[in-house]
Amino acid sequence: MITKLSDDLSAMSLDGVHLTLTSEAGDVNILRGVDLSVTSGEAVGIVGPSGGGKSTMMMVIAGLERASSGTVKTAGIDLARLTEDELALFRRDNIGIVFQDFHLFPTMTALENVAMPLELAESPDVRNNAFDRAKEQLFSVGLGDRILHYPSQLSGGEQQRVAVARAFVSSPKILLADEPTGNLDGETGKIIVDLLFDLHERVGTTMLLISHDQTLATRCDRVVTLADGRIVDEHLGEGPGG
Ligand SMILES: Nc1ncnc2c1ncn2[C@@H]1O[C@H](COP(=O)(O)OP(=O)(O)OP(=O)(O)O)[C@@H](O)[C@H]1O
Ligand SMILES: [Mg+2]
Repeated sequence: MITKLSDDLSAMSLDGVHLTLTSEAGDVNILRGVDLSVTSGEAVGIVGPSGGGKSTMMMVIAGLERASSGTVKTAGIDLARLTEDELALFRRDNIGIVFQDFHLFPTMTALENVAMPLELAESPDVRNNAFDRAKEQLFSVGLGDRILHYPSQLSGGEQQRVAVARAFVSSPKILLADEPTGNLDGETGKIIVDLLFDLHERVGTTMLLISHDQTLATRCDRVVTLADGRIVDEHLGEGPGG
């Protein structure tokens, strides 16, 4: 099926990617020629100044924004070839996403939010165990006593942990996380980072972690700096053990 992972070893590749958005104030060139290749199983940290295009690049890789020009391949699939419906299935089957502003469903409890990706899964087994699995995942992020709370009844950091639990729950092949610890204190942040790298090691998940937190970024295999819509630096990190 077209939305399944291919055998391509490159988990993500951006080739000459430009993204221009038109607003009332005129055209904004947000991505201005991004070339990036991430190998299957790699953990890449994305850093750089605010407004540099990090979140936008993540949206392009997830197929939530379409590049104005250039080629975006995720899981070996050229996203330009997929329709919106195919893109939705593609994300369901391959990608976990933590959005910078969480994107939780306000009318669903923490448990329902986390169970959602499993309830949409193709496998009946996965669907049948959705709530048990979601509950376990909420315990793992330290929210066992908040499972029936709605997002509006949770603090920013708690909402962020629900968002992380939702992205993790299906053990995705690719995890895209935008500032996953941005709202957390040091100790809670460390628990989340350990969970991220545990998933990376256990499932071989390819990770793209956007973070202003240098410690998180340096635990990645590679750190890429994005500024002004371009990659301006790239160096090796210390790796997950770092
Ligand atoms: N819909 C839009 N229309 C016009 N400009 C936009 C739109 N969305 C984002 N931008 C602009 O694109 C640039 C990149 O935004 P982006 O959110 O990708 O930055 P970022 O690197 O994630 O920043 P931060 O670290 O603050 O999260 C910013 O200058 C922003 O103002
Ligand atoms: Mg951002």
